Amino acid sequence: MKNSVLHTLNVAFEKAFSDLDFPPEIGQVRESDRPDLAPFQCNGAMAAAGILKKKGVKANPREIAGKIIEAVGSDQSIAGLEIAGPGFINILPSETIVAQRANTLLADDRTGASQQSPKTIVIDYGGANVAKPMHVGHLRSAVIGEALKRLLRFQGHNVIGDVHLGDWGLQMGHLISELESEKPDLPYFDSAQTDGFPKESPVSMDDMARLYPAASAKSKADPERLKLSQQATAELQAGRPGYRALLDHFIRISIEYLKKGYAELGVEFDLWKGEASVDPLIPEMIAEMTRLGITEESDGALIIPVDDNYDPEKRKGIPPVMLRARTGAVLYHTTDLATLIDRKNEIDPDEILYVVDQRQAMHFEQVFRAAHKAGWYNLEQLEHLGFGTVNGKDGKPFTTRDGGVLRLADLTEMMREAAAKKLAENNIGQDFGAEERADIAEKVGMAALKFADLQNQRTTNYVFDVDRFTAFEGKTGPYLLYAAVRIKSLLRKAKDSEFLSGEITITDKAEVQLALALDGFDRTISQAAAKRAPHILCEHIYRLAQSFSRFYTECPILKDGISGPVRASRLSFADLTLRQLELGLNIIGIQVPERM
Ligand code: ARG
Repeated sequence: MKNSVLHTLNVAFEKAFSDLDFPPEIGQVRESDRPDLAPFQCNGAMAAAGILKKKGVKANPREIAGKIIEAVGSDQSIAGLEIAGPGFINILPSETIVAQRANTLLADDRTGASQQSPKTIVIDYGGANVAKPMHVGHLRSAVIGEALKRLLRFQGHNVIGDVHLGDWGLQMGHLISELESEKPDLPYFDSAQTDGFPKESPVSMDDMARLYPAASAKSKADPERLKLSQQATAELQAGRPGYRALLDHFIRISIEYLKKGYAELGVEFDLWKGEASVDPLIPEMIAEMTRLGITEESDGALIIPVDDNYDPEKRKGIPPVMLRARTGAVLYHTTDLATLIDRKNEIDPDEILYVVDQRQAMHFEQVFRAAHKAGWYNLEQLEHLGFGTVNGKDGKPFTTRDGGVLRLADLTEMMREAAAKKLAENNIGQDFGAEERADIAEKVGMAALKFADLQNQRTTNYVFDVDRFTAFEGKTGPYLLYAAVRIKSLLRKAKDSEFLSGEITITDKAEVQLALALDGFDRTISQAAAKRAPHILCEHIYRLAQSFSRFYTECPILKDGISGPVRASRLSFADLTLRQLELGLNIIGIQVPERM
């Protein structure tokens, strides 16, 4: 923020307000609502008139605006001031400070984005379940979580991403009992055997993908079959050695598989922990919570009330946390609380962010309150970042192809195919070799998918529309890649002609607007991070691409007859824009090909 053009103007205006005995903060300068008139505006004259009126002094905002203009008039950061409407002041910064600032951005490899004093932040995202099929909510979590992780890292924070696998619930009991009925002779099912189980997994990923739905369907139809799964879950959680050994195989095989899928999406986790990994902490945790006196017995279950005004009859307020069910089983609340202890012990983070479907908002509210009640965390340290659902064109939650399971591999393949089709339709890169074409299609497909998701406000639902996502026109990932690649090609041509870049000078209005767009990057980064809102960054990237395209139309670079210094300055603009585009795209997980 410091030293941006906006900041410099702000200082000048706040001083003017203060010189006229008004509180400086009412003189704040902001980006204009009417950029066609001027890039910045100050609305403080209205507030100033309000203050005078309260004191019983007659005041006209336009007159006050006039006085403010007089007071700042000679400031060298300003080229033009104009009163509009009831007393708005439109502000045009001087070309000198705009050029100065652009040169500062040019010299900075972060193109102006400041660093924050580092905090340790855990991001809990991805959240895939072992065996249970992935759904589109898991995809959103991965895409949004990855963007936030990179954004916060870019700010200088120490960020640890944890996939937090779902590997401790009924789905494990389904797998175990179904496998038992298929292959009862496996050593895992001999309750007398306590160790020496085979190192080799008895199941593959495909086996699991078959066993789980089979067990789940049978259990829905038959309560007796369900009981078998529940029984296996309870015995697993009670520590039956053969079941534990099986669980380890399930988890290992799933992680291997998921790692590949996430890698294709460009999503990387630092920790591959899960619910099962914190199970050993649970007995001591429950004992501690009981010692603290925050637990209650209820109907044989152990609960933690978290809302004094909770009224179960009227279904009002926040229901208690379920620490242990009547059956003795631990639940989703329990593993999330134990995970909070684990993170405290292992990492001691300043903040933990949970990127999980909005429909789990109540769950996290309950867990956070209980963790706070136990005195482990402040409520400000724990944040649930919910998101809306992705729907198909039919308005129902999106699923792939057969309408069933969402597999990351299928999804990336679908995006790749759609991108390849669009590239062909637009005749882009069709003369390149097969390998390069495939690489480009992959990048375009991923850019399409991620940008389509991240450009939305996190909490809104959106419709999955591959055709629209992969379009090269409009606010899409492919449009942005194309914009960046065009700059790369321009810079290559300049290099071939041995044109050098140099100091930035302003010769055209389009250069002012491009410089100011670039100068907004630092603000964008801090706002997007503070609000945990990747869409703010997406908006910036899109506007920057548009600003560049306007600039390039107005300000030719390679054409004959451009003077050396002007060409050098414009090449610097191109270079700076490309670097900022790539920084921004990289944060949202999008890679730019060399050419298209
Ligand atoms: N596995 C969970 C699900 O599929 C998501 C996990 C989210 N993270 C957490 N700490 N609860 O719904």
